[in-house]
Amino acid sequence: MSQSNHDEMRRRLAASRAGGGTERIERQHREGKLSARERIELLLDAGSFVEIDALVVHRCRDFGMEEQQIPGDGVITGYGTIDGRLVYLFAQDFTVFGGSLSETNARKICKTMDLAVEGGAPVIGLNDSGGARIQEGVASLGGYADIFLRNTLASGVVPQISAILGPCAGGAVYSPAITDFILMVESTSYMFVTGPDVIRTVTHEEVTKETLGGAQTHAARSGVAHFTHGNDAACLMGIRELLSYLPSNNLDDAPAGNSDDDPDREEAALDRLIPEDPNRPYDIKRLIEGVVDDGKFLEVHAQYAKNIVVGFARLANRSVGIVANQPAWLAGVLDIDASLKGARFVRFCDAFNIPLVTFEDVPGFLPGTQQEFGGIIKHGAKLLYAYAEATVPKITVITRKAYGGAYCVMASKHLRTDVNLAYPSAEIAVMGPEGAVNILYRRELERAGDDAAKVRAEKIAEYRDRFSNPWIAAERGFVDAVIEPRQTRPALIRALRQLAGKRQAMPAKKHGNLPL
Ligand code: HXC
Repeated sequence: MSQSNHDEMRRRLAASRAGGGTERIERQHREGKLSARERIELLLDAGSFVEIDALVVHRCRDFGMEEQQIPGDGVITGYGTIDGRLVYLFAQDFTVFGGSLSETNARKICKTMDLAVEGGAPVIGLNDSGGARIQEGVASLGGYADIFLRNTLASGVVPQISAILGPCAGGAVYSPAITDFILMVESTSYMFVTGPDVIRTVTHEEVTKETLGGAQTHAARSGVAHFTHGNDAACLMGIRELLSYLPSNNLDDAPAGNSDDDPDREEAALDRLIPEDPNRPYDIKRLIEGVVDDGKFLEVHAQYAKNIVVGFARLANRSVGIVANQPAWLAGVLDIDASLKGARFVRFCDAFNIPLVTFEDVPGFLPGTQQEFGGIIKHGAKLLYAYAEATVPKITVITRKAYGGAYCVMASKHLRTDVNLAYPSAEIAVMGPEGAVNILYRRELERAGDDAAKVRAEKIAEYRDRFSNPWIAAERGFVDAVIEPRQTRPALIRALRQLAGKRQAMPAKKHGNLPL
């Protein structure tokens, strides 16, 4: 190599590494954000990053852009390792043209995604961008569409994770939306299809960026974000933790944990968790934490639809996806948001060979016009469809109520669930005793006059005796075994071992028609 070429290489690489320059990096810091390169450093195992396309420049010749060429062109792409496992990533660099997406910048991202899919490794997007590069017009829009296509084709093949670490606006939100998990940072990140200015013009609504599309909004209200973190560093650690539960692709198994928590551990405290009074709440997370390895549970969508709890844990060092009704929130009822949250999680686990453990305590679907007008029929059907379609090992534990349609939906035996367990406190019935008595004995109660309350109480007790228990379901084999709560962990681990080699096929089809 001639000395001049050597110097030129160094000059170009230095320009690429410098990005938008010290001043703009300092602005990132002042705003509480890290630079794209600092983020990569924190995310990946030390020294593992290999950059691809560091020297790519844009080809725009409008608006004086030919004078402004920064090698790398606003996005850093490449691969590295997390806990020794290969991952591909792209990190938008807000210091270069606001991290905006140009034609060449999009090509870099697409190349990374193609390599990830071919190599069976997760793709991580660190988003921090002003959206489509305005100077490039349709070339930039096309670049977005190229990415959306790849997100869709990669869906269910490799895990795709999006961290939102700055602005993410316009159609740019749709790439993260197609990916499996979105993490947002409080106060510095936002996502919206149209910003506050456009909203003011079109609908005359006044709304701040934060209220419209900040981390809290998407974590608690829209459900767009799965996780929120206080700053960039915590968010990047969050990605590492999440990946520890996931396989690298749909043909792999998730990495084994290294816990020495005894698989036969019985947890006596669980025998006292479920109150005698069926109308009293309890926190289902106490049950989850009492059962899984070392009590470690990574909750997904923790702030959204709290009436259902979903997340990852390990049992005897094997990753499992947990879905649980939460009696401590809206009595654990299934509504639109809970159905969507549950269905998305079930489908993710099924796509990536992660066994599903369901804890069921559900009084039914939430009644009311708001839910019916909002389409609880089609949204509830999504959860039903997701469970029915799932071919991964499925284990259900009915802890208390399993009423009506919700009994069917929550991984009942009838939906190809492999192992169905129930506690002695289980109440498996078409509806709760009060509602059932009101319908079955309406005339008798009317006739009873002053004695109505007494008759009602007798009928409720009779109904509870007859139906509010696990025995009829167990007699029919809809429940395989009735167990003490303390035996849950060993029972689940035995079932997982039993099902380790499970293979279940679906009828040949192009794809099903999920009730959207
Ligand atoms: C080119 C851009 C840019 C863009 C920002 N910059 N967005 N350059 N195309 N889309 C540049 C700015 O000119 C500036 O350059 C630098 O990035 C930093 O931007 P600031 O405005 O100084 O930063 P800030 O005040 O933090 O505001 C950030 C912002 C704002 C809110 C993102 O820049 C903004 O509103 N940008 C435009 C957003 C937008 O409407 N994008 C198109 C969305 S439509 P200098 O040289 O001064 O540092 C879309 C379609 C996608 O994305 C369609 C897919 C289907």
